[in-house]
Amino acid sequence: MQRYSDLMRKERRSIAFVPTMGFLHEGHLSLMKKGLEIADIVVASIFVNPAQFGPSEDFGSYPRNIEGDLKLLKKEGVDIVFLPSEKDIYPDGFQTCVELKNLPNHLCGLSRPVFFKGIASVVSKLFNIVKPHYAVFGKKDYQQFLVIKQMVKDLNFDIEIVGAPIVREKDGLAMSSRNSYLNPEQRRHALSLYRSLKMAGEILQSGERNSSKIINEAAAIIKSYPDTEIDYIKICDQENLSDMEIIDRPALMALAVKVGKTRLIDNMILTAQMDSLMSEG
Ligand code: PAJ
Repeated sequence: MQRYSDLMRKERRSIAFVPTMGFLHEGHLSLMKKGLEIADIVVASIFVNPAQFGPSEDFGSYPRNIEGDLKLLKKEGVDIVFLPSEKDIYPDGFQTCVELKNLPNHLCGLSRPVFFKGIASVVSKLFNIVKPHYAVFGKKDYQQFLVIKQMVKDLNFDIEIVGAPIVREKDGLAMSSRNSYLNPEQRRHALSLYRSLKMAGEILQSGERNSSKIINEAAAIIKSYPDTEIDYIKICDQENLSDMEIIDRPALMALAVKVGKTRLIDNMILTAQMDSLMSEG
């Protein structure tokens, strides 16, 4: 992989990189399309990274379908698919990690303590292997997007991080590999995430600026669906993720909800201006 990238760079061809854990859907494919738009070569990686799963999380059962993924990537026109093994990424004796101080102390970092350390570490390794000019990340994982941008800045990676909007199913559910865990009933209850975000936008539009009140309304919507358990609902600063009590500027509304045993996340940028609700993904 490194030799291929060296060659492309020598030929002055630009490389866009899209790291994934596979079981690809239209959300992932939108990132490939973005990559094809901005660079000469697109490299996708598929690696289910054990370091970002906690001991009680779903590493073992995380959905996998390499054959299907390769077909989709080929159809999309992706040039290279990088499929490292666990030993390639974490050979015996591996001992270096990348850890951020502040951004992980919010949202998903609180309920998933090793998550962002695992992500920052594997993404730095992948960056050093793929040597891209651009790397594309979805804003579905908004906190991950911020973590990677901060890491690239802090560690002087010469890579431009490009964010891409959330791709949703027709009814609004944010696409996710984990949606495959949901049975038809849970799939209906999973809509509570998007509905509560949308309702929050409407409440804001009607003049409410108090975050707690909006969060309470959102929580009530989610609780009205059976088999749901709220991990967090937050309205926060879209750069540093600190809580915002009054919405006096665009804010990130982010939530994590368990539907049955499946933990789902979603988010939306709320703005109190004329068009009030803006879904930037
Ligand atoms: P994974 O969950 O496979 O996601 C890969 C990329 O696809 C991420 O940038 C994610 O934000 C994006 N993505 C997923 N669903 C999306 C949707 N509905 N709309 C837009 N983009 C979406 O995120 C990871 O893998 C891993 O943490 C990884 C970065 C690969 C490190 O292991």
